[in-house]
Amino acid sequence: MPKPTARPATSPVREWFPTRIYHAPLRAGDPARYNEDLAGECRQIRDYDDAGRKWSAKNYPGGYTSYASLNRLHEFSSTFGDLERRITRHVRAFAKALDMDLRGREVRMTDFWLNIMPPTAAHSMHLHPNSFISGTYYVATPPGCPGLKFEDPRLASLMAAPPKLPAAHPSNRPCITYQAAAGDVILFESWLRHEVAQNRAEDERISVSFNYAWS
Ligand code: NI
Repeated sequence: MPKPTARPATSPVREWFPTRIYHAPLRAGDPARYNEDLAGECRQIRDYDDAGRKWSAKNYPGGYTSYASLNRLHEFSSTFGDLERRITRHVRAFAKALDMDLRGREVRMTDFWLNIMPPTAAHSMHLHPNSFISGTYYVATPPGCPGLKFEDPRLASLMAAPPKLPAAHPSNRPCITYQAAAGDVILFESWLRHEVAQNRAEDERISVSFNYAWS
C-alpha cells in the first residue's frame, strides 16, 4: 500500500479532513405506519407538556419543542426507548465510518427531544454542545417542508476566498441541504452547524432530535 502522502498518479489535488454526514432509512420497509403512530404520540406529548409549550412560545416562535422540558424521551416512553435502540445502531455505524476508537467504550444517547414545526416556524443556525454525534429522525415531512441545511465548518476561516462558481461541485459549496424525508435518519458530528428554514408547507413537520456521548 502506498504511503498516504505519496504523490498520486492522477490528480495533484487530494482531500483531507472531510466533514462526514450520515443519511439512511431508519429500518427496512415502509415507515408510514410506524411514523403515523409516532406522530400521534408526539402530538400527545405536546398537548401534555405545558412547560414545553410555554418555553417554545418564547424560544421557538410558532413551533413546539420538548428540548427544555422533556429532553430524555427515551426514558419517558417505550416508543422512544425502541427508537433509541434503532438509532444507536446507526450511530455506531457512523462512528465506525469516522474511525473513532470506541473499543471497550460505551456510546449512549444523552438527550432525545421532539420538534413540531407548523407552517412559518423556523430553526436558525446552531450546533449541539456537550455531545459528539447528533442527529434527527423524520416523523412527518409534508411536501415542500424545509430540509436540514449544513454549513461548511471552515467558513469563519475562509479569509479572502473568492465566491464559488454557480456550477461548483456540491462538495465544494459553502452549504448543503439534505431533504427531510419521513423514515430517514441523518447524523452529523455535533460541532457541525445547521439550520432549518421556515416551513412553507401547509402541514406540520415533525422530527425527533438527539445527542450522543461516549465514555
Ligand atoms: Ni440541531
